[in-house]
Amino acid sequence: MTAYKITGGHPIKGEINCLGAKNFATKAMIAALLTDKTTTLTNVPDIGDVHITAEMLSSTGATIQFDNTTATITIEPQTITTYRVSLPQSGSNRVPILMIGALLNKFGKAEVPLLGGCNIGKRKIDFHFRALQKFGAQVDETNEAIIASCKGQLKGTHVELEYPSVGATETCLFLSVLAEGTTVISNAAVEPEIGELITMLRSMGAIIFTTPERKIIIDGVKKLSGTRMKILGDRIDAASWAALACASDGDIVVNGIRPETLNNFLSYYRQVGGGFEFISANSIRFFRQSELKSTVLETDVYPGFSTDWQQPFAILLTQAHGVSVIHETVYEKRFGYLEALKKLGANTQLTTHCLGSTKCRYQSKDYKHSAIITGPDKLKSENYTIDVPDLRAGLAYVIAAAIAEGTTIITGIKNIERGYGNITERAKNLNLNIEKIQKNEI
Ligand code: EPU
Repeated sequence: MTAYKITGGHPIKGEINCLGAKNFATKAMIAALLTDKTTTLTNVPDIGDVHITAEMLSSTGATIQFDNTTATITIEPQTITTYRVSLPQSGSNRVPILMIGALLNKFGKAEVPLLGGCNIGKRKIDFHFRALQKFGAQVDETNEAIIASCKGQLKGTHVELEYPSVGATETCLFLSVLAEGTTVISNAAVEPEIGELITMLRSMGAIIFTTPERKIIIDGVKKLSGTRMKILGDRIDAASWAALACASDGDIVVNGIRPETLNNFLSYYRQVGGGFEFISANSIRFFRQSELKSTVLETDVYPGFSTDWQQPFAILLTQAHGVSVIHETVYEKRFGYLEALKKLGANTQLTTHCLGSTKCRYQSKDYKHSAIITGPDKLKSENYTIDVPDLRAGLAYVIAAAIAEGTTIITGIKNIERGYGNITERAKNLNLNIEKIQKNEI
């Protein structure tokens, strides 16, 4: 077991290269299965989730080559021999369910591992199942796998999503592009990574229209071709380094991020006292512009404030003057990480009430989904150990440890590296005092 040892309490300055987006890279790898031609993906992040996805693809017989030096993956689906994705990967992440569409289109059958991923709520897959059935597939979940099949070709249909789920929208896209006839997805998710997936599918020959009312209309085609696609920068990674710059009163240039994908984050950042400057089309300098002020925000589906920005932003708010409120409306259980931060001196409270302008799906339920953060708090650590509960909380802990005076040990870093790669290596151009240590050194 390894851990990060961070000695903090000083402004963090320097430069960091943003990773390619985890939540598009894995989907782009699956899209590559929809053809029998080669696809090349560039700017692919060297992270756990990409390797897990590559293993799942390989287990069907697809040929995958990952060139670390150029961050390029080449996927040759011509060699696929089976609709069965091997089961040792069960419980690793959210990707298996997304492979069903591609495998059904190829084989009329699919068998994929059970889902895992961060424990931030129930994370049901009922929308995926209902969509599969609407396309004419049968689907069942056993103790070991999710099994689906269809007779003949999948049939285009109208799927009205109860909630604009990212994953369910992706499932519908994978099912529809090669289905017979037209599909309409209503109440679809419109996150930037979905936009990129649609662009990629179009480049492969898919016919997809989007409307201003969250509708996606797909005219199924007979065949798709391979493509070449650059993975867009990770807006969650970028926002986390931005939060660190401002929270520590430092100055960080983040390279490889398209500013428009940060959308409302930039406005909340400015509102609480953060400053930013566009250095080039893909580089942003982040810093603290004025004394930090508290704010009230709600997470939401895009274009709202992303639920994945919530954790680094919460750390920033511990440094703001006054009482801040975060109402988490996407996941019911995404504040577990705040408890450990109390150890470092963060003043936070959780409540089951909807502390926002909207009543969310968790209204009147017993989920502590609103947080009250009172600041500014001088964070301090005397060799405290905090264990990472989930991926995004993990990087939030790195930020908290960097602004806390003293040394903090962060365990469970596999959860961080699944989405952010090796932080010690990535942060080498920052004055972040971080090292990887072994269990016996804790
Ligand atoms: N939901 C259902 N039923 C379904 C699907 C979703 O009730 O069949 C609910 C979920 O329980 C959740 C909400 O709908 O409350 C949103 O879930 P969504 O399907 O949009 O999430 P996802 O596709 O599983 C992706 C990202 C998440 C990100 C969300 C929201 C990937 C691999 N994961 O998850 O990222 O938070 O969209 O933007 O793309 C992360 O990267 O750390 C992460 C959690």
